[in-house]
Parts: sequence; C-alpha cells; structure tokens
Amino acid sequence: MQTLLEMVGICKSFPGVRALDKMSFDLFEGEVHALVGENGAGKSTLMKILSGLYLADEGEIRLRGKKIVVTGIRQMIDAGISVIYQELNLIQHLSVAENIFLGREPRYAGGFINWKKMYADVDRLLKPFNVDIDPRAKILSIGPAFQQVVEIAKALSLKADIIVMDEPTAPLTGNEVERLFEMINALKKSGVSIIYISHRLEELARVADRVTIIRDGSMIVTKPLSELNTEEIIRHMVGRHLSEQYPVAEIPVGAEVLRVEALTKKGVCSDVSFSVRKGEIVGFTGLVGAGRTEIMQLIYGYLKRDSGKVFIDGKETTIRNPRDAVLKGIGLIPEERKKQGLVLGLSVFDNSALTILDKFSRFGLLRMKTIGDLVRGMVAKMEIKTPTIRQQVRYLSGGNQQKVVLSKWFVRNCKVYIFDEPTRGIDVGAKVEIYKLMQNLALQGAAVIMVSSELLEIMNMSDRIEVVFSGRIVKEFKKGEASSEDVMEYALGLHSRAS
Ligand SMILES: Nc1ncnc2c1ncn2[C@@H]1O[C@H](COP(=O)(O)OP(=O)(O)OP(=O)(O)O)[C@@H](O)[C@H]1O
Ligand SMILES: [Mg+2]
Repeated sequence: MQTLLEMVGICKSFPGVRALDKMSFDLFEGEVHALVGENGAGKSTLMKILSGLYLADEGEIRLRGKKIVVTGIRQMIDAGISVIYQELNLIQHLSVAENIFLGREPRYAGGFINWKKMYADVDRLLKPFNVDIDPRAKILSIGPAFQQVVEIAKALSLKADIIVMDEPTAPLTGNEVERLFEMINALKKSGVSIIYISHRLEELARVADRVTIIRDGSMIVTKPLSELNTEEIIRHMVGRHLSEQYPVAEIPVGAEVLRVEALTKKGVCSDVSFSVRKGEIVGFTGLVGAGRTEIMQLIYGYLKRDSGKVFIDGKETTIRNPRDAVLKGIGLIPEERKKQGLVLGLSVFDNSALTILDKFSRFGLLRMKTIGDLVRGMVAKMEIKTPTIRQQVRYLSGGNQQKVVLSKWFVRNCKVYIFDEPTRGIDVGAKVEIYKLMQNLALQGAAVIMVSSELLEIMNMSDRIEVVFSGRIVKEFKKGEASSEDVMEYALGLHSRAS
C-alpha cells in the first residue's frame, strides 16, 4: 500500500489544554482508517489541523512524501482534502444546492447561475443515498440526518482524494448507516482514502481497514482492524479495562406516570398511544424522519398537536408549551445540543447553573457554593474534560458539550425524562455513566423515555421498545422479546399495512 498522508509529531495547545502531544498518523491510498478515542482525546483537533483550520504548534504534514507548509483551508482543499466536521457547517438559510456548490455554482456564459444544472447535479449527487431531499429546500427545514447527507454530497462534489468524516453516523439510523457504508466502499474502490471517526465501535468492523487509537493527544496504537478486537480497542482508549458496556439493574416498576392517547398531528404522527410507568425505561426506535423526535416535542408542548391526550399520574393535563411541561414534571433533553441545549458563549458553570438555579430558587437556596459543588460533582462524575468549570462551552470537544447538556438534567427532579439521542457522540466509557444515571433516575421513581438510533443501546437498555414507522407506533416489544433483526424489520416498515 502506498502512503498518501503522514502527520508526524503534531503538537497543539490551547490555553490550559494540551490537545495534541507528538501525535502521529498516516493514511494509505484507498484505505479507510478509523481514528478512535475518548471525548476530548484530540481527534477533531487533529483533523482541523489537517484541514488547515488550525495551525499546529509543532510537527509536519507530508502528502505523497512531500512536506507541506500549511497556510490555510483553501490550500488544503486544493490539495484534495475535504473534512466533514462533527458540528455540521452548513448555512441554515441557504438551500441544499447552494450549500453544496457555494462559491462554485455552475453558471451560464453570461455569468448567471445555472439553477437547472445545479439542481440536476445535486439530484445526481444525492441519488446513491436514495433519500428524499429537495435541492431547493433550506437547510434549516431538513433534519440533521439529511444535513449529514448534504455534507457528504458536498465532499463528493469537491472530488477530494482524502475525505475526513468526523462522526458521520451520529445523526443517522440503521438504514442510512448502511447506505453510508455502501458509499464509503464505493469511494474506496475509486481510490479515495477516508479517515473515519466514530464512537460507535461496532461500525468499525464494517468499514475500517486500519485503526489508530488516540489517548490524551498521543497515538497509542495503529493496527489493521483484523488484529484488534473491540475489547482491546476500548482498553487502549480508556487506558483501563471496561467490564460492562450495558449495565444491568433491577428496578421495581410502579404505577403509570405518563400516558399518551391517540396523539395526532397532520404530517407528523397519527394515533400514537403508549404509557410509561415509574421505574421504567422505554426505548423509542425507528428511522430518521419516522417522527420520534416530533412525538416527544408534541408531548413537551414544543409542537402543537391536532388531537390526542396526555395524562400524568392518571390525570389528563394540558401542556401548551415547554414551560408548562417542565412545571408538570416533564423534562426533555434535546438531540440538537447546539441549538436547544447549550449557550455556547457561557461557561460550563453558567450553563449548568441556568438549570440548577431554577430548581434551587424555588426553595430560596441561592448559594453559589452549593451550586458550584453540584456542578463540580457532575463534571467529575461524567468525566467532562475541561480545564475549569469557568471554561466556555464552545471550547469543549463535541462529546463533552453533550455531557454538559445531559448533566444539567440529572440534577433536576422530573417525573418524566425524555432523552433524545442521549449518547450521540459520547465515548464508550461515558456512555456507561449515562446509562447508570438513567437507571438511577428510574430507581428514584422517574419514568424514562429514551429515543435512540443505536439499536444495541435500545435493545440492552430498554424495558420496552416502541418501534416508530412513518409517524405511527407499529410495534411494541418487551425486553428480550425480539432480536435486533426483528426490530429493524418493523423500523423499516416491512410489517405495516400500507396506509
Ligand atoms: N478552540 C479550542 N480552545 C480551547 N480548547 C480546545 C479548543 N478546541 C479543542 N479544545 C480542547 O482540546 C481537547 C481535544 O478536543 P477535540 O475536540 O480534539 O476532542 P475529540 O477527540 O474530537 O473529542 P470528541 O469525541 O468529544 O469529539 C479538548 O480538551 C478540548 O476541550
Ligand atoms: Mg470531536
């Protein structure tokens, strides 16, 4: 195999943080090289250096054996390197097509944009994904999964030799993940090299040729995937042995806390009925766009329903908006952390305090020290990697931002917790902590709903599984009743009558 890219001895520091410490990485022509490591290990930083977004403090980048002096992003794009960032970079108010061809729009001889060609080109680029995306649609009107597809289409249109995918599957579900893998294999065959970052380790077996494990900014090991098993990868990542990926807990189930009856909203969902009891964790799975998030937003009062009833502790309740929902004891932890869950310009402390203050002010307990202790306790428990709790959240790694969003909620007292993709972008070690925290909430008598696209997590962590297809609950399984294939079949709509 021909070596295409080498990054040698890369160092990068931020105030208070040594993100990369003599990190080395290389890439063969036509290989998929997975880069794995815990939240905050330095993966995204390394890729930002490769893309020219950050300059390394020390170290060398060689392309086809030649050292390159990095000057900026433009130069790296011209050198054939295309990075799809973890936090997607699309412009919300522009259309899909405009985003893909930004600055490179096909034009008529007269200089006017050739929209017809542009839309046709986008259709051609999107075709292999078999998704229903309108090239004219504004980015803000399409979901995160579709946005991810648009990013990949954009990279493809740039005809890059090296494509970096920083957690490409985080917003995707089973079916789309499969399509992505097909695309990756096709790209590989055409000679493109791919750097693949993911926290879903079970995916590696499907795509990766080699794996590099990074810990605390340094390379721990690079090996062909065939010479590593998942257990070893985890051990190298976290630096210790991790005994259980899915903790087991005996939690007594009590009275019904939440009941939803015939929840309906045109174009979103119809006739959705289910209930959750004290101590239960109920998992919602389905394809992206099946309506899982929207069902939760309807219950939470974020979206307006056409009809249907919500009962809490057996009593029918009206929830007009999220404030109502919170007052009635429902907490929803959203999937899109940047938009809904965090104030990026505020510190870890302030972000957490925003939620905690609410809780404590009710009891007239406004002691900064108490809050500080609570926040520090959470930071330690969830292993949030930050130099201090005064650090602005925007400077944390993607996974650590997600941990801050979650940690805010664990200090509240809700009757019902709705977690939408709680472990997206979170490393294996911290996932276990989040599962335990969820079980703890259940043990304290809360009803827990978990929306997740990770089938293994749904299978292992839910007492009951609700499968959503096309806005309806098409099947309910009890824990252990179904194999993942069974669940997938329902999620794909193979068992639903045409409606
Ligand atoms: N612009 C920045 N300013 C300050 N610190 C930063 C900045 N960018 C990254 N860091 C810090 O550098 C370290 C490495 O972050 P990086 O984003 O590379 O992690 P990662 O491996 O991609 O993690 P994740 O899996 O959570 O995405 C983290 O401690 C992070 O907080
Ligand atoms: Mg990252």
